[in-house]
Amino acid sequence: MPISRRDFLGAGAAAASSLLVRSPGAGDALAASLVRPGRVAPSRPVVIASANGIRGVLKAYDLITTQHADPLDAVIAGVNIQELDPDDQSVGLGGLPNEDGVVQLDASVMHGPTKRAGAVGALEDIATPSLVAKAVMDYTDHIFLVGAGARKFAIEMGFQPQNLLTEKSRQMWLRWKANLNPDDNWLDHSDDVHVDGLLHGPQGWTHGTINMNAVDGAGDLGSVTTTSGLSWKIPGRVGDSPIIGAGQYCDNTVGAAGSTGRGEANIKVCGAFLAVEQMRQGKDPEAALMTVMERVIAMTEKRLLDDRGRPRFDLSYYALTKDGRFAGAAAYEGSHYAVADASGARLMPSAYLFKASERPTGAMTGRLPSH
Ligand code: GLY
Repeated sequence: MPISRRDFLGAGAAAASSLLVRSPGAGDALAASLVRPGRVAPSRPVVIASANGIRGVLKAYDLITTQHADPLDAVIAGVNIQELDPDDQSVGLGGLPNEDGVVQLDASVMHGPTKRAGAVGALEDIATPSLVAKAVMDYTDHIFLVGAGARKFAIEMGFQPQNLLTEKSRQMWLRWKANLNPDDNWLDHSDDVHVDGLLHGPQGWTHGTINMNAVDGAGDLGSVTTTSGLSWKIPGRVGDSPIIGAGQYCDNTVGAAGSTGRGEANIKVCGAFLAVEQMRQGKDPEAALMTVMERVIAMTEKRLLDDRGRPRFDLSYYALTKDGRFAGAAAYEGSHYAVADASGARLMPSAYLFKASERPTGAMTGRLPSH
């Protein structure tokens, strides 16, 4: 197996100082202390998220510190920013749709202190699946509702249905559809639509997702993951985000973890659960996530690996301990994650398995082989 820890152990030091969004007054000593992700002196509260949650971690942190918000309520408020932003095409309102042009959303939550969980899958017409997942947790004896049942439940709970497909996302879906087959009756377009800031894959698909985890001053934890999932997916496809133990997991005695990226790869290793279990056994967040990334590679079918065993997809993990240590990790160099703590909100470089230069040529841009 051509996986080496050499690059991982040197992860992203160069980027660490350039992406900080620090609180006024934070000095250069802070930047130096942040060069090694996950190795800072632990403090609480802490909120971490995928990089697209940079606005959300600050919101969640402020709610915890100024209003003594519950950690789960705080992270849900954090991801609501993205869910309700029509210009964010990865989550909630404006998310990229499935192959039929319908936005289907997945989300899950866990509440550490009360050991409860809730989830929704393939939810249509409700912009905040994270809140619907919490309602499943709060008001039912179930954990996971999907499809039409999840939508009916949400409306009964007072959520307002709306068309989640924005004009921009509809245009992108039409372009994707037109370019699918050069021999059909749709004229192909190559230069008029670009999906910026999202993870590209075969035929322009994306896996936009937010995972957010918080520990409050008392050591109580909450975690959430929310997504519109794989763009252009087969209707009914559910990714890792709503699966407790895959998209996110939280154990109030240990910590929390979550994932973004290729859900099909994460589901097979129950990545968030595995990360928390590794931390339970004493690994720090960085080492725990490294073990998960290695397990992902080991469990990946040949068609998704290059001839040197490197994945043809992106996948990222985030982990936070009860005592406030944290880390992010990704398959390839260049990923970041968001953190908010007493030092302010900032992006941190994720640890990684492979240097950016080792990314397989054509990975994430060509059609995935079928076997
Ligand atoms: N990780 C998001 C998805 O695969 O749907």
